Amino acid sequence: MKVVRVDIADRVRGIEISGIRKMFEAAGPDAINLGLGQPDFDTPAHIKAAAIRAIDEGKTGYTVNMGIPELRTAICDKLGRENGLSYKPDQVLVTAGASEALHIVMQALVNPGDRVLLADPGFVSYAALATLAGGIPVGVGLDERMRINIEEAKEKMDGARLFVLNSPANPTGAVEPADHVRAIVEYASDAGVTVVSDEVYEHFIYGAEHVSAARFGDNVITVNGASKTYAMTGWRVGFLAGPREYTEECLKVHQYCQACATSISQYAALAAYTGDQSVVGVMRDEYEKRRDYLCEALHRAGFRFPTPDGAFYTFFPVEPGVFRRIIDKGVVIVPGTAFGVNAPEYARLSYAASMGQLEKAVERIEEAVNGV
Ligand SMILES: Cc1ncc(COP(=O)(O)O)c(C=O)c1O
Repeated sequence: MKVVRVDIADRVRGIEISGIRKMFEAAGPDAINLGLGQPDFDTPAHIKAAAIRAIDEGKTGYTVNMGIPELRTAICDKLGRENGLSYKPDQVLVTAGASEALHIVMQALVNPGDRVLLADPGFVSYAALATLAGGIPVGVGLDERMRINIEEAKEKMDGARLFVLNSPANPTGAVEPADHVRAIVEYASDAGVTVVSDEVYEHFIYGAEHVSAARFGDNVITVNGASKTYAMTGWRVGFLAGPREYTEECLKVHQYCQACATSISQYAALAAYTGDQSVVGVMRDEYEKRRDYLCEALHRAGFRFPTPDGAFYTFFPVEPGVFRRIIDKGVVIVPGTAFGVNAPEYARLSYAASMGQLEKAVERIEEAVNGV
């Protein structure tokens, strides 16, 4: 057989397959998968119905690149109502998930060699997307409550290009308080740094308050999407919003890599943002119940970590031997190494899984801890 020589660009060689995917693919058939960050709820019926209607009505062609106007208007209304932000529809770009929004922001703003500041541990995509754009990801450490270390953020700000803020955070579930968010935006503004505020978990918050970074300055691009809020991960619809100077440039990248977000998904998202919002509260309450159950069980098993205020993850220190035993017991969790270099002996466990699955997982984790 002929051996094919494949020349791969350095920027792609420089990134790795996500550690989360690796764990997922390694799992056995009766494994309990607490590794993925995906809601286990079905998309609400009125959202599905809107998509079916869009198909029946033939709304299946390309849309304008920015996204259908009625969806961008609905997103502006949402940003005003829920986030206290004032945007016009031409400042909103609808994307194929928050993932695409993050990608095009990096492509539009990062020059080769630019430093991109991000939390370490932090969401896996940020460093990879920064690298793909030719940038240099620079980790910022966390404090004892797993929130951004503000002093370190300030020190690293000078000469950076972007600061990626994610609250509530993946993988820690930490929620940044308003004074942290304000400080980051203001330090960034002083240093000429743009803040990318990834707010995909804004609604999954338990007792704390979500504060949008864009409330504190114009140097902010807000990224969000329907995936987590409305249990719509597979629909691939998200958005970015910011000053027109940013959205116009981002549009160029979006236009060539995506053309537009899926038309059908855009109509579904329109129904999501304009329809009954109680569906979000129902999911939030369920996540909170699971968080309480899981944190209590993990604390009882001897793991020491602050109870997270948001998202649907717990992130806790675990010895390598115990980690391996948990995996061997068939509970898929993700090692801290997937999220940066600062938390090697940690694990992320997602509670976007049914209570029954969590109970089974807890049993197995207890056995792993006790060496049974
Ligand atoms: C912090 C964070 N941002 C963005 C995304 C991507 O979301 P989307 O499905 O909208 O691309 C995820 C998904 O896990 C995430 O955890």
